Amino acid sequence: MEPDSLQPATLASHVDQALAAIAAAADLAALKAARLAHAGDRAPLALANREIRTLPPAARAAVGQRVGQARAAVKAALDARQADLEAERDARALAEESVDVTAPWDRRLAGARHPLTTIQEHIADVFVAMGYQVAEGPELEAEWFNFDALNIPPDHPARTLMDTFFVGDEDSGLVLRTHTSPVQARTMLAQRPPIYIVCPGKVFRTDDLDATHSPVFHQLEGLVVDEGITMAHLKGTLDHLARSMFGSGIVTRLRPSYFPFTEPSAEVDLVCFVCRGESVGDPDRPCRTCGSEGWIEWGGCGMVNPRVLTACGIDPDRYSGFAFGMGIERTLMFRNSAADMRDMAEGDVRFTQAFGMEA
Ligand code: DAH
Repeated sequence: MEPDSLQPATLASHVDQALAAIAAAADLAALKAARLAHAGDRAPLALANREIRTLPPAARAAVGQRVGQARAAVKAALDARQADLEAERDARALAEESVDVTAPWDRRLAGARHPLTTIQEHIADVFVAMGYQVAEGPELEAEWFNFDALNIPPDHPARTLMDTFFVGDEDSGLVLRTHTSPVQARTMLAQRPPIYIVCPGKVFRTDDLDATHSPVFHQLEGLVVDEGITMAHLKGTLDHLARSMFGSGIVTRLRPSYFPFTEPSAEVDLVCFVCRGESVGDPDRPCRTCGSEGWIEWGGCGMVNPRVLTACGIDPDRYSGFAFGMGIERTLMFRNSAADMRDMAEGDVRFTQAFGMEA
């Protein structure tokens, strides 16, 4: 006769206890404990299994089968419960970890590029669309490029009027460029016509920072050199730029002026984008933006002086060209009603945020 511990009733009661514990396990941790208690090395059924060895060989097969069936029943119950609890856990995770896309977003603002950067790119895009290339030049510039090549000799008043930052000794020959016009000379020396370029960039003058001045600001330079270029091309190009920046109806006016590197030269005025010229001669509707002139100053332009073409190795009998230059801060002020240049230099997000978060 086999011992009590291997009797069918004993084994059945081990199985019952195991099944009860498995059914009661509410989560995977509890099931793990039940597995250890009822199917681990020291579980009653494991001990029973070991005991089979002590039986006479003839009895082992039948008891072995009985114990084996009991253990298999416990294992099957464990596996089924394990599968159920895992499915339950996964379903809960899916529900709990789902994202509510209507929930308020993180209100910390992402960074964005400065409006001066995006307006320069916008301007460059207008010209690239017309087949121009974007040119660059150094901010630390040779005096020769900044002045001499542009027909501004050492005794020329424009040289002192430009409020130049000299770098090192006065005879070092180096300045912080006072305008983007030296890029004209650099381009003409490096490239044969046809030349169609724009150059947005930083320029420097010994001005104090106030609402309309800054020691560092930005200009846009344009240069075209080709056969048969006339002032009509210049005017059409400026009008196209004005419309692209300020909207249809905003065109330019050229007023006779003087620049050493262009001949003839002109100031570029813009239809006042506030009153659109309607304040002129109407005392009831004064315009503060243009002083009821109907026009506001935007930049300078002209036909490239043949002396500049010659200095850059281009034959003025074959080629002609136009050039223009305007302040980018000024353009941003007009375009977005920014009243004070200091706001553009200070980097306060309360100013830049209003321009959107273009990255
Ligand atoms: N370089 C001039 C300035 O800074 C602006 C300018 C005037 C540029 C006439 C030009 C031009 O290209 O043709 O005041």
